[in-house]
Amino acid sequence: MREWTREEKYRSLRDPQELLPLYEKIKESEYRQTYHNQAVTGLMNDPNGFVWHDNKWHLFYQWCPWGAVHGLKHWYHIVSTDLVTWKNLGLCLIPDQGDGYDNKGVYSGSAMPIDDKIYLYYTGNHRDEDWTRHAYTCLARLSKDGWVEKYPLPLFGENPNYTEHQRDPKIIIREGSNIYYLMIGAKTKDNRGCALIYSSDDLQRGWNFLSELKVPGFENFGDMWECPTIEHIGGKDVLLFCPQHLTIPGRGNSQHHNGYILGFMDWDKLTFFPEGQFHVLDFGFDSYAAACANNIQDKDKAILIAWMGLPDAAYPTDEEDWSGCLTLPRELTVRGRRLIQKPLPEIRKLRDERLDTECNINGAFKLPRAAEIEIDCRKGAHSVNVFADENGEGGIHISCNEDQTMISVDRSGMKQRFNCDDGEVRERPLENGLSHLRIFIDSSSIEIFVNDGDAVFTSRVFPLESEHFCSVTGDSFTKMWSMKRAIKEQFLV
Ligand code: FRU
Repeated sequence: MREWTREEKYRSLRDPQELLPLYEKIKESEYRQTYHNQAVTGLMNDPNGFVWHDNKWHLFYQWCPWGAVHGLKHWYHIVSTDLVTWKNLGLCLIPDQGDGYDNKGVYSGSAMPIDDKIYLYYTGNHRDEDWTRHAYTCLARLSKDGWVEKYPLPLFGENPNYTEHQRDPKIIIREGSNIYYLMIGAKTKDNRGCALIYSSDDLQRGWNFLSELKVPGFENFGDMWECPTIEHIGGKDVLLFCPQHLTIPGRGNSQHHNGYILGFMDWDKLTFFPEGQFHVLDFGFDSYAAACANNIQDKDKAILIAWMGLPDAAYPTDEEDWSGCLTLPRELTVRGRRLIQKPLPEIRKLRDERLDTECNINGAFKLPRAAEIEIDCRKGAHSVNVFADENGEGGIHISCNEDQTMISVDRSGMKQRFNCDDGEVRERPLENGLSHLRIFIDSSSIEIFVNDGDAVFTSRVFPLESEHFCSVTGDSFTKMWSMKRAIKEQFLV
């Protein structure tokens, strides 16, 4: 694996054209996605600032142009009218090239549209000459014509009572009031993960620290919370966050999880009262830093998108100088004590041709590069090998036992294996058996929706040419469609 010097990781981007040769190389990769967003070069991570404004969805993401490395982060801007096809708009927030508040990265954050502008809240990742880190909560505003203006001073600096790990401001409007909150992920000096709450009655100034968010029962839950947010869905509050350095049953040795707690947020007491336990949001291998659109009108649902990747993980395309992509946008609703996560209905627009799933003599059918596979499952055990060889063996093995109490996804059958130390199997108990699977494959990803949104498993996958078959066993009925391209390969910085 390539070793990066600090100078190489944090080099400023002076002329976008210098990325062109890198892009020309990367665009030839067989693993470039066709309907999932990915960066033109380098590393993409968290989705940021997801909002509806000026008749479009706006989304930004963390981007380090130089290669598959967590170096100098920028915000890259994309837009969509239907959440299915996307257009690249290019760079939006660029780190200061001098000694400014965000000189070593424009880190994650959120957005709020007011009048004809979008306000962008982000963490300015500052490093002093001696490489001491300081986190600033910063603001910029984006006009319709693409003009971006960073405010000269941060809204506030770091809270001295916590460690340097304070980031990912999420802007929240308290319903029925004109009070705004910023929620910041943090790590305490005694290594506990938490969220800090600031408030103001003006989006642009006057921010005050109120308190650490109290979450009874979760005082000691991971050592840092990244990307925390509270969403209001179907009359319930949902605290979504990424607690770090926890091990969770069914999730191998992985230390990075994105999950949620349902409950009630009492803004007067700054306490989130949990109703139930912490749930994993996505049971697959590669999903993190999920963000919800900030201003959708329908109070019964949220729209979520996540980074299909994990911190501290290496991927086969690192060698090709790019890594990371975004998940499909998903519709979240609350059912009982859980979130239900479905692909947006609009995704059906991408279905192209209905393809034959008749098996060859070895019991496998051929997969195109991008497809949706739908399987209706009846009683008994089931197994599906996606990205199998022509004998229907190997690949990603999805299985459920005879009494249908557990579904598991095992990726150890793939020829290109990666992040194996985190464990190669993920499991999820099934409360009502297995009735349905919707599987979305792209050149280098798989998203498996179980029982109409009851669970989802998202993973990167890097199949070889010989691994483009699928086999299905059990009492079931399979349908498959090839998928249209939704993301244009285009060099735009
Ligand atoms: C999560 C994260 C955030 C941070 C950003 C930097 O993946 O570590 O906490 O703001 O990525 O790119």
